[in-house]
Amino acid sequence: MLKIRVKVASSHEIVFEKGGLLNIGERVFDVVKGKKVMIVTDDNVAKLYLETVKRSLAAKGFEVFETIVSNGEKSKTPETYLKIIDNLGGAGFLRVDTVVALGGGVVGDMAGFAAATYMRGINLVQVPTTLLAMIDSSIGGKVGVDLTYGKNLLGAFYQPKLVFVDVDVLNTLPEREWQNGLGEGLKYALLGGGRLFDIVDAKSVKEDLEEFVYLCASYKVKVVEQDEKELGLRRLLNLGHTLGHAIEKKSGFELPHGEAVKYGLALILQASTKVGGDADDLKKAACMLAKYGVDCPYDVKELLPLIKNDKKAESEAINAVFVRRIGDCFVERLSFEDFAKLF
Ligand SMILES: NC(=O)c1ccc[n+]([C@@H]2O[C@H](COP(=O)([O-])OP(=O)(O)OC[C@H]3O[C@@H](n4cnc5c(N)ncnc54)[C@H](O)[C@@H]3O)[C@@H](O)[C@H]2O)c1
Repeated sequence: MLKIRVKVASSHEIVFEKGGLLNIGERVFDVVKGKKVMIVTDDNVAKLYLETVKRSLAAKGFEVFETIVSNGEKSKTPETYLKIIDNLGGAGFLRVDTVVALGGGVVGDMAGFAAATYMRGINLVQVPTTLLAMIDSSIGGKVGVDLTYGKNLLGAFYQPKLVFVDVDVLNTLPEREWQNGLGEGLKYALLGGGRLFDIVDAKSVKEDLEEFVYLCASYKVKVVEQDEKELGLRRLLNLGHTLGHAIEKKSGFELPHGEAVKYGLALILQASTKVGGDADDLKKAACMLAKYGVDCPYDVKELLPLIKNDKKAESEAINAVFVRRIGDCFVERLSFEDFAKLF
């Protein structure tokens, strides 16, 4: 069993236990006092893992409740959030009780927001079941739901009591969702370098899965610990995302997020040569990315206008993230015009 202690205001652990979902009850028992647990999950994940989790929690004496939402981003709404809140209220949950978010980033964000706000905050346990949720969304405390005006506009920072990762659940993940997570994984390889870079460069993510997830999570934890509320350093995690979001938008959200991030990374590597990036390292990084296919279907000139409308552009200025060397990236605040000149 591997563990990472996340040293934020509300310190907690990320526990990695391959095949450990069967024993999730014990892990939850170790960190919470209340007897009631609400498992929030989606209809896909429920079919696969809900019974296992329920059984394990019940075996430790928990009184177990469930809320099953429809899968996908379309569910991540204030209405679904209120359904979770209503179920908590209806079952008489108190501050000592616990929400277990069993699913991908959609469930994690939404159940996390319910836990953050019901009675001004009850216990939260994140049990991520997608690669993206394991290496990204379950870590760092950002929770929330979408509004019709945009994604994640209603939210909070709220840390869980525990993040529990069993990589075996990824065996059932559809290929498209795998690719989504992998896009973020490629980002971590550039940010973190070292062994993480070597794993993706060797195309051995599946063989080295637990180590890969652990290393990505460790990188995110390191950044979150230094900037819990995303005031500076945490912006590094947006590497590849400024153009990635524009690519997603251009495709009418047909292209998976991870694929768009991958193309965004390739473009930012090219631009990094013009802001002092190390030529040899950038070449090596580009070769690594090329192994995953980086033929962006759009010309960068078509993408730039779309960046202007992105909320991360913050009134015409862009906090762009560049690669100086593999494992050494930096944020530079540029006007939109100066950013555009790099392409
Ligand atoms: N909070 C954060 O810091 C943060 C960071 C990045 C992304 N996000 C959010 O995460 C969300 C995307 O998360 P996601 O990519 O995990 O998508 P998701 O939660 O929609 O899951 C993707 C699909 O995979 C299915 N699924 C999940 N686990 C499975 C498994 N083990 N086997 C089979 N099917 C499974 C789900 O039912 C769903 O259909 C977005 O809403 C995004 O805004 C949040």
